[in-house]
Amino acid sequence: MSRLLSPITLPSVAGDGLPLRNATFLAPMCQYSVTERDGVPTSWQLVHLGARASGGFGLVWTEATAIVPEGRISPEDAGIWSDEHTEAWRPIVEFIHAQGAAAGIQLAHAGGKASTYPALPDTQRGRVPADEGGWTAEAPSSNEALGLTPPEALTMEQISGLVSAWGVAARRADAAGFDALQIHAAHGYLLHEFLSPRSNERDDEYGGSFENRIRFALEVVREVRRNWPAEKPLAIRFSGEDWIEGGWTIDETVELAKRVHELGVTVFDLSSGGIGAFTGPVGPGYQVTLARAVREALPREGTFVTAVGQITDARHAEAILVAGDADGITIGRAALANPNWPVHAAVELGDGQEAFVAPQYWRASMA
Ligand SMILES: Cc1cc2nc3c(=O)[nH]c(=O)nc-3n(C[C@H](O)[C@H](O)[C@H](O)COP(=O)(O)O)c2cc1C
Repeated sequence: MSRLLSPITLPSVAGDGLPLRNATFLAPMCQYSVTERDGVPTSWQLVHLGARASGGFGLVWTEATAIVPEGRISPEDAGIWSDEHTEAWRPIVEFIHAQGAAAGIQLAHAGGKASTYPALPDTQRGRVPADEGGWTAEAPSSNEALGLTPPEALTMEQISGLVSAWGVAARRADAAGFDALQIHAAHGYLLHEFLSPRSNERDDEYGGSFENRIRFALEVVREVRRNWPAEKPLAIRFSGEDWIEGGWTIDETVELAKRVHELGVTVFDLSSGGIGAFTGPVGPGYQVTLARAVREALPREGTFVTAVGQITDARHAEAILVAGDADGITIGRAALANPNWPVHAAVELGDGQEAFVAPQYWRASMA
């Protein structure tokens, strides 16, 4: 059996961890499909996530799911800020489980990149104005680092309110039945905006030095940890590099990964960029170096690192795991194109399709 398709366990701080049927993860991907603009997931989320669960993924991550309405990237984003949201996510989680996959939720706050048009082919770009249902975006500082009209700077009171909101959302995610929770600290959204010196120009205890810039992230991690069962894995997604001069670096990411691991984060996914236009490297596996840096810095026992970014080929994915650069592989756009990506990978790696193909589709040839 290949490493990619062998069963694995996602570690947690208590209990035995979360067993997964293989090491493939569906990347969190915004679907811009909540047409009612109330954050309540719809049949689209059921079908999108359900198809990838039945397509063989070990774990499927939801799209960025907003902890408060103002934390949505676009008005059509999903959220989890009321009991109605919890109830709407529950049957989606149950369907994912029935397909043999685990269900993970990515909790998010878009910060200064909130209230923008959905990234669909036929929509505008930039901020949604108030008369079209937009709202005021809030970030650590009011500047143009994000490539949008400047957001408003958060007050100390608002910052502490947001920390609490992360905890409430974590409790709801548990109540909805999710098995794993990923804190979105990447891509120029709120947590990352505090980390990066380009977006964070505060001169109070939340800005300036490394210790001050990571303060908000540590507070959020502590609050989520208090509200999320110790038996369930807690994950975080970082932008390992801003890829811009004077930005957030991989050395800082490694140090922060160690700190949040001490606070109970056991699963790490390494993406990059998001403060302004992307200026990093492109090409197959372009972010694997970032996963490797975090993998090498953390104790192997009790931690799990996933690599993401233009990993489309099963043999490439397997090579990353065999080299020890990461423990699991997150698949984004390739899984939009092919919901059965893991089944096809099993065929390509010689494991056969039987283990992962949905029984209803057993007569299909995935070769
Ligand atoms: C349509 C789309 C929506 C995305 N939405 C999110 C998101 O909600 N949260 C997130 O962390 N990353 C998001 N991403 C980034 C992906 O999770 C992934 O990191 C990126 O696409 C690179 O992986 P890939 O080359 O396998 O697609 C999105 C990407 C796409 C294509």
